[in-house]
Formats: sequence, structure tokens, C-alpha cells
Amino acid sequence: MKSLRRLLRRTRFYPAYKRLGHYPDFFYWKLRGQPPRPPHLVKQQLVKRYARERGLRVLVETGTYYGEMIDAAKNDFAEIFSIEFDSRLAAAAHQRFARLPHVHILEGSSEALIPQVLAPLTQPALFWLDAGYCAWNGNFADSSRLLNELSAILSNRVRNHVVLIDDVVPFSGLDGTPDVRDLEHHILQRFPGREVRVDTGILVIV
Ligand SMILES: C[S@@+](CC[C@H](N)C(=O)[O-])C[C@H]1O[C@@H](n2cnc3c(N)ncnc32)[C@H](O)[C@@H]1O
Repeated sequence: MKSLRRLLRRTRFYPAYKRLGHYPDFFYWKLRGQPPRPPHLVKQQLVKRYARERGLRVLVETGTYYGEMIDAAKNDFAEIFSIEFDSRLAAAAHQRFARLPHVHILEGSSEALIPQVLAPLTQPALFWLDAGYCAWNGNFADSSRLLNELSAILSNRVRNHVVLIDDVVPFSGLDGTPDVRDLEHHILQRFPGREVRVDTGILVIV
């Protein structure tokens, strides 16, 4: 099964295969009593719900991966910027979404590219921070990257950006991740007007 998946990963059918898996993942999560790490379908619903409730028309995603969030959100936003470090994944996403002029795939490090995405923005955006801040591909996380990105977003001249950070449950202060409570404390101290909460395993900053 693992080798079949590895093989599929190299084909253009992999995104469709991943999309098919979203529903079984969701029902299995429900069956287990909705543990704190939600499946992708729930993450998609959260991204869309916060955007709808706050009237946000721009989505900025860090970590494109196979483009699942772009695919799910492509009809809900006027502009989507997605940043991917891995050049193979960035090229595949570029090709996949080439026909959607409002989807922009940016190749490079999220830490370097977030300020570039922020610079021309004139309206608040929803930021979906999901670029492997916990260990990714065997590399330990570096919490300074996340903190630098947050600082750029929350101190931007456009005031009402909303930030969702994926998968904060394993953020424990170990392996280079910040502890969730430390992270919350850090944000509230530096940006006192902000509200921070964990919603279904996702850290939300409004
Ligand atoms: C968990 S996946 C993203 C999933 C995607 N956001 C979604 O919702 O379907 C993490 C992605 O972040 C990328 N990544 C890791 N470090 C990065 C960095 N410094 N800048 C941009 N992307 C990065 C990885 O290559 C990987 O594709």
C-alpha cells in the first residue's frame, strides 16, 4: 500500500486520490469522537467559515503541498497566494492551477515571501499558516520562522488580517516548536488588541 502511494505521488492523479481520502478521514475522525487534530475537510471548512464571517476575499497560504486547500477554496476567494518551498511541488501546483488567474503560486521560503505578499495588499486577508512549522520531512521545526511571519502579518499597516495556524496540538515546546500557551502569551503581549483561541486544533488570531 505504501509503495503504491509512493508511485501515485509521482503522477498527476495524486491530488484526486488525496481528495477522495478526505471523506473517509472525516468520518473516521467523527467515529473517534472528534480528537483534537482535525482532518483536512474540517480545516477547509474553518478557512472558509472565518473568511465568510469576516468578509475576507484574499487567502494567503504557506505550504502549498498538493494544492488541496487551494482546490477547496478556489471559489471562495477573489485572490489566492500560496507559497511553497519545494520546487517540484510548486511547479506541479503552478501547472495544476494555471487556468485560474486569481491563484498565484510563489516558490520560496514563506518567511521571505510573506512580506512581499503583504506589501501591495490594501485589504485584510486570511492567512493559513501551514508550512511545516512542526517537524516536516524529518527536519525539526524552527519556531523563529513562525514568529517572524506572525510579526510581519500582525504589524502590517492593514490591521484586520486573520491568521489560522494549522496543527498546533503537537506544538509542545519540543523539537523547535513553540509551546501553544507561550505562543498565545507572546502574541497577546506584542499585539494586545488581538484575540487568540484554539478552534478544533487550529490556532486562530483575530
Ligand atoms: C502540511 S503541508 C501543507 C498542506 C496545505 N497547506 C494544505 O492545506 O493542503 C506543508 C508544506 O509546507 C512546505 N514547506 C515547508 N517549509 C516551508 C517553507 N519554509 N516555506 C514554504 N513552504 C514550506 C512543504 O514543502 C509542504 O509542501
